[in-house]
Amino acid sequence: MDYQQLIEEVYQEVQAENLKGKVADYIPEIGNVNPDQFGIALVDLKGNVYGVGDHQVPFSIQSISKVHTLTMVFNVFNSKLWSRVNVEPSGDPFNSIAQLEYEKGIPRNPFINAGALVITDALCSKFENPIERISDFINELAGDTCVKINPEVQASEKNHGERNTALAYFLKSFKNFNNPIDEVLDVYFSHCAMEMSCVDLAKSFSFLANDGYSIFADRQILTESQSRRVNALMLTCGFYDEAGEFAFKVGLPGKSGVGGGVAAVMPHKFSIAVWSPELNEKGNSVKAIRALELLTDKLAFSLF
Ligand code: DON
Repeated sequence: MDYQQLIEEVYQEVQAENLKGKVADYIPEIGNVNPDQFGIALVDLKGNVYGVGDHQVPFSIQSISKVHTLTMVFNVFNSKLWSRVNVEPSGDPFNSIAQLEYEKGIPRNPFINAGALVITDALCSKFENPIERISDFINELAGDTCVKINPEVQASEKNHGERNTALAYFLKSFKNFNNPIDEVLDVYFSHCAMEMSCVDLAKSFSFLANDGYSIFADRQILTESQSRRVNALMLTCGFYDEAGEFAFKVGLPGKSGVGGGVAAVMPHKFSIAVWSPELNEKGNSVKAIRALELLTDKLAFSLF
């Protein structure tokens, strides 16, 4: 399979469709981006990198960072973690608060905001400098690049963080939150405000296509079974209330972010990241989803 040719074809076809969406503006600073950008990077299991379009431009990874933070606590807490957060799709928007009330403070999964806040809380319990540890971990996975936190995006989300603050207080009321709320929110907004290119992102997801072993970090990041579980969670919960549709159209484990990025893996073959800032009404990138749909249609193999 000629991956470079494949992603170039996909890129041209998506561009020709002239798809439109809306850049996220509930975090005002994320809105300050050229909406026409579009890039794809694919990394195979030998570490070969293929790219097209704006694949080297850093963008706000937002919720994609929830996969990195989950990976960091998976090893540490393992079974204990799953008493604090469930593994079911929510069918609700990423920032919904309703389920948390009737499910007594146990978030449906680690990718909705409530679940990701529990994961970040667990990281704050484990590490003295969680922001530094998360940055170091992502840099290691991406092959020693220098991934940066954008301080303006971090501050912008903090200044408009009422919804996440409410979720954190709600979790605390159910005793599913151990650290000071402001401290955890700062760490959460920071990891969401990290900027990575499609190339960095695809590299950082490579271990999930490779039974937990990262060729870039040159070490086993998760066991094979843990890695399979992260993929299962991405397939069922990675796109919130669009997870079913993404599985139906694309059929890959993946994770989106409101910065317009999507990272996905084809286990035992490759990892891929696609970015374009305009989103659909579920908060997922219009062009990225379309690109992945075309790409899996063109592949000679599939997950199923
Ligand atoms: O917490 C938030 O609302 C953002 N920092 C992240 C949300 C997000 O990326 C949802 N994914 N599509």
